[in-house]
Amino acid sequence: MRPPFVITVDGPAASGKGTVASGLAAVYGLPMLDSGLLYRAVGVLAQRAGLDLDDAAAAAGIAQGLTVGQLTDPAFRTRAAGEAASRVAVHPAVRLALRELQLSFARRPGGAVLDGRDQGTVICPEAPAKLYVSASPEVRATRRWKQLAAQGEAVTYDEILADIVRRDERDGSRADSPMRPAPDAVLLDTSEMTIEQAADAARRIVEAARARWEAS
Ligand code: C5P
Repeated sequence: MRPPFVITVDGPAASGKGTVASGLAAVYGLPMLDSGLLYRAVGVLAQRAGLDLDDAAAAAGIAQGLTVGQLTDPAFRTRAAGEAASRVAVHPAVRLALRELQLSFARRPGGAVLDGRDQGTVICPEAPAKLYVSASPEVRATRRWKQLAAQGEAVTYDEILADIVRRDERDGSRADSPMRPAPDAVLLDTSEMTIEQAADAARRIVEAARARWEAS
């Protein structure tokens, strides 16, 4: 039997992957999991509990108790939450604690869209459609800066660029599930694209994968 139609969308912060993933979820009528939110929630809840983000066991305790229903807090969308997320995401015990939740989403019989850093490499390597969305650090910093300014965060472009470079380095160099494209992922560089162009390009890539999946 063929596997469910799962689309994985991985890539670095502000690459456009969230927009691409939610666009694909709408086109194909699939539920979407923003796995970054899980790590953001663990980071923020750990900080609120006064825990040290470098304490793997303490952060894993928070991850073990996390439910999807807790993910709506706007505090998880801030710049500080992104930084806290990437710090707790280096701990294998945290990743393990969040694994089951992600796997059960990936195994939904009707399919799903999974957005993150390791969805195509670790969580669902059998996914029929895999995208790796990227853009230059400067383009990503500009996008993130506009987004955070619209949310009312007072932060400069240079601070955001430094955040992005630091987060890329940490996410890409960690030993457990580093950020990287799956061997069979299609790379989509959105540096020169509008949101609409990126969404169209992603749809074409997924259409080709879907045709292969339907024929399988
Ligand atoms: O995608 P987002 O910016 O919300 O992710 C926040 C952080 O969570 C990332 O920088 C990364 O450290 C971590 N993350 C991860 N694995 C995922 C999704 C996010 O390690 N699948």
